[in-house]
Amino acid sequence: MDRRPVSLLLDCDTGVDDALALAYLCSQPQVEIVAVTSTPGNVAADQVALNNLALLELCGRPSVPVAVGSRTPLSVPLVTTPETHGPQGVGYAQLPVPQGAVSASDAVELWVEAARARPGELTALLTAPLTNFALALRAEPRLPELLKNVVIMGGSYYYQGNTTPTAEWNTHVDPHAAAEVFAAYSGQPEEKLPLVCALETTERIEMRPEHLAALAARAGCTEPEVASAGQANGTRSRASNELVRQLSDMLRFYFAFHQQHGQGYLAHIHDYFAACVAIGTTPFRTRTATVHVETEAPRLVGTTVADFRGLWGEPPNARVVADPEPEQALAELVNAVGAFAARPRT
Ligand code: BDR
Ligand code: CA
Repeated sequence: MDRRPVSLLLDCDTGVDDALALAYLCSQPQVEIVAVTSTPGNVAADQVALNNLALLELCGRPSVPVAVGSRTPLSVPLVTTPETHGPQGVGYAQLPVPQGAVSASDAVELWVEAARARPGELTALLTAPLTNFALALRAEPRLPELLKNVVIMGGSYYYQGNTTPTAEWNTHVDPHAAAEVFAAYSGQPEEKLPLVCALETTERIEMRPEHLAALAARAGCTEPEVASAGQANGTRSRASNELVRQLSDMLRFYFAFHQQHGQGYLAHIHDYFAACVAIGTTPFRTRTATVHVETEAPRLVGTTVADFRGLWGEPPNARVVADPEPEQALAELVNAVGAFAARPRT
């Protein structure tokens, strides 16, 4: 794959799969991470920010600014998901206390300033509820023109949800924000429409214990890294490499969560896939659509519907990502993060 320089604004709710995405992005020298902003979702916003700071320090990018924006969704109370990602959002991992501090700037201001300062240069990657992005669009309605590209992990199209029977988590946490974002993109030129990585695609990226073991081996760990369904809850990694140890402790929790939900001892690494889409390291196709986010009907709040055929007669507002290559994406993760973990630390 062609590795072109990419300058990224990342907004996340770290989160095990957000953490993997962040570690992967840090492993890519051609990727400039301009800022990492923190939206409440998997855990509360301040915990997300602590996780982001600690991970960036662990991954050798301590000077990337980390900011917090809104601490609640736009119109509904915040719901978090410790059962999916653990009490701190990072499974069984206990990340080191960060040395750096959260930026004094508000996440929304930071996005708007960065986009205005570098028009047409920045790619936005959103792996969280769209709260901060919706607020940024309110503050600067020209964001669709100012940003080079937008990649969103969220939604579920003609595929069952992971939060309600029809709704995906990020969209369900803040459906009003998602609706505002798609409304803001209605009628934008095709190449500006958000690339949307939804569950029917991201659930195909199934990380299994063998991928973790291969990543640890690539990182030069002295002992094989074993994660298995038979291990006692809370079993911690003893890997000789710190990054591997932390990711392993996150993933063991996340594997078990998926198993408890009948999906097998594996992990859907949604946000990692969205990161690959954002930096162009995995193949995919897109389908242009008009997306509707339901905010009212009680049983359907957070449900996303895509009109791929123009039946509503409304302008498109999204490019829905399809046809991933899971084996390629998983090999990329193993090789990139494994080699990165093996790097000499200064
Ligand atoms: C999304 O929800 C979160 O729990 C994950 O981090 C991912 O962004 C998947 O539905
Ligand atoms: Ca996430």
